[in-house]
Amino acid sequence: MTFTPQIPHWGAKNNQYSEKLYEYHSWLLDTGIKNGLISNKNKQLVWDEFIIHSLYFGIIIRKVDKPINKVYDLGTGGGIPGIPVAITNPNILFKLVDISESRVYELERLKSILGLKNIEIIRKDAKSILSDHNLYISRCYISSKEALGLIKSYKNATYIVSSNGEDLDHDKNMFHVKQENFMINSTDLRHIDVITVR
Ligand SMILES: C[S@@+](CC[C@H](N)C(=O)[O-])C[C@H]1O[C@@H](n2cnc3c(N)ncnc32)[C@H](O)[C@@H]1O
Repeated sequence: MTFTPQIPHWGAKNNQYSEKLYEYHSWLLDTGIKNGLISNKNKQLVWDEFIIHSLYFGIIIRKVDKPINKVYDLGTGGGIPGIPVAITNPNILFKLVDISESRVYELERLKSILGLKNIEIIRKDAKSILSDHNLYISRCYISSKEALGLIKSYKNATYIVSSNGEDLDHDKNMFHVKQENFMINSTDLRHIDVITVR
C-alpha cells in the first residue's frame, strides 16, 4: 500500500507546515509505536487518524469566538491532538497534560527533537487543570458526555472533544454544543463536539 500524506481541502492552509508534520509522523511510527504511545498501525493510518484528525481541532480553535492565548490538551498521550495543532498554530501556547510519567518523559524529548517553542508538558491529573474561561481539547481521552460532567462548574470554559457523532443529550440552559463532522481522507468521516459552559 502506497503512503499518501494528503491534507484535505479544509486544511490546505496547513501545507506550509508539512515538513514538521512529516517529522512528527516519523516519530510516531518509530518511538510512538515502540514505546506504546500509539497502537501499531501502518504509515497511512497513522497519518490520517492521528495527524489529519488532529488538524481539525486547529480549524475549530481558529473559529472559537473568544481571545485565545493558551490551549490545554488533556490526556494527550503521544501528543495528540496537541502536537499537530501546535505545529500549525505557532502563536498559541499549547499545554499538553498527561498523568503518565513515561508519556511525559517521551514528550519532553519530542519537544526538543521538533524544536517546538509553543508547547509545555505537564504531568498532572487533568481534573486538577480545570478552571473558568479556559479552552480544552482531547482526542480519545473522554466521551463528550463525560466532558459535560467535567466542565459543568467552570463558567465559559470550552471543551473540544472527539466524539462518535451521536446526539448529545444536554441541558441547553447550561451548555452550548456544536457538533462538527469532517473527512480525514476520501472515505472516513470523523466527529468533534464543541462544548461551551454558558
Ligand atoms: C487513550 S489515550 C489517548 C491519547 C491521545 N489523546 C490519543 O488520541 O492518542 C488516554 C491518555 O490519557 C491519559 N490519562 C488517563 N487518565 C488521566 C488523567 N486523569 N489525567 C491526565 N491524563 C490521563 C493516559 O495516560 C493516556 O495517555
